[in-house]
Amino acid sequence: MSLLILSPTRETNSWVQAIKEIDNTIPVLVYPDIPDIHSIEFALTWNHPYGSLKNYPNLKCISSMGAGVDYLLKDPKLPENVLLARIIDPELSKTMFEFILALVMNHLRGLTQYRQNQTSNNWKPIIYKRIEDIRIGIMGLGEIGNYVAEKLNLLGFNINGWAQNSKPNSKAKVFLGLEELEAFMQSTDILVCLLPSTPKTTGLLNKETLQYLPKGACIINVARGDILNEEDLMELLDSEHLKRASLDVFNHEPLPMTHDFWKHKKIDITPHVASLTNPKTVAPQIVENYWRMKNGQALFHEVSREKGY
Ligand code: OXD
Repeated sequence: MSLLILSPTRETNSWVQAIKEIDNTIPVLVYPDIPDIHSIEFALTWNHPYGSLKNYPNLKCISSMGAGVDYLLKDPKLPENVLLARIIDPELSKTMFEFILALVMNHLRGLTQYRQNQTSNNWKPIIYKRIEDIRIGIMGLGEIGNYVAEKLNLLGFNINGWAQNSKPNSKAKVFLGLEELEAFMQSTDILVCLLPSTPKTTGLLNKETLQYLPKGACIINVARGDILNEEDLMELLDSEHLKRASLDVFNHEPLPMTHDFWKHKKIDITPHVASLTNPKTVAPQIVENYWRMKNGQALFHEVSREKGY
């Protein structure tokens, strides 16, 4: 019985190798090269074609290749009685922190603005604030959000967090639920979105909620594109309520060639690279879950379909 890697958009060789290096007794197949659909019991997926997971009658477990599972849960034909798992890897938290730190420092010291000034030979020093005077608001205090909060806090930033449920161990001052969203936003100079995409978070960052941010605030979205209303963001940047936005995720990826974001002077675009799963560091948990599935044991990092993560 086999493990299928089903990811039309990601390179798959390094995943096959990483799994084989740990356990070469597991038969690994790579989509679309599948001699026998009946042999597939475990699927490792990223952005699979919707409906395709229905094709394997003996499928028992689907593991996402990343931390997010929103694309799985949005598949209207996702098989019902199949267990879902996701990746939790300290390496993902670490690389996410590094990326966010780079963006925060860019906002703080105006590096992109200098690059833009350079195109018109414009020598214009930007007055900057001290790290201790900046309030970073982190939305989403799961594994990654908490790690980022802790590390930024060690560097001297003031950290606030927003979450749906209480977070007793967080290093951030935590604001809870929709009731405290306005107060959270009002205490935020740089907003970092690390929320999962679920029915509760879709469109949560919109004109009304973003307006609670103080004038001149910056936004970093490294979570999912559908949490942020793109039109509302542009309106608030154009009216100078918001200063800049760094976006790594979008409603449609790759970002369409004709999208207005590309030419927007106050939007910095990166192509969903904030924190990429490293097959070598996550292969052990995938192999472990394969055997857990085979032995009928509870999976590592099992996903609740109800919560959406
Ligand atoms: C993930 C991602 O969910 O890369 O892991 O976005």
